[in-house]
Amino acid sequence: MAATKKSVSMLIMALVLMAVAIELANASSIIVFAGPGCNNRAQKHLKCGCSNISLRGGYEFTYGGQSAAMYWQSDCEGASQFILRGDSRSCDAYTWKSMFIQC
Ligand SMILES: *[C@@H]1O[C@H](CO)[C@@H](O)[C@H](O)[C@H]1NC(C)=O
Repeated sequence: MAATKKSVSMLIMALVLMAVAIELANASSIIVFAGPGCNNRAQKHLKCGCSNISLRGGYEFTYGGQSAAMYWQSDCEGASQFILRGDSRSCDAYTWKSMFIQC
């Protein structure tokens, strides 16, 4: 009886850990580059919510289930100009100043 209870709780724990691992693996993230193009200093953003973007040479967005809205103003003010909904990459300079990862 005790052994069964223990293995059930271990199974539950394993499932919880797996869910956490999947969750982490699936988080969307964006790497922005100082430029020119996708070169030089890079910064990774993966936090949910709004982040200012300080590097604008190029970007590489890895989609993990959360879309990212890009804004021309800092602090995600105004209307979003563009929404990233899948893996995408561009090595051209852009003017977005902030982004909001929806999660
Ligand atoms: C984002 O940038 C604006 C303008 O530079 C600044 O006022 C604001 O405090 C920044 N927000 C964050 C979260 O760093």
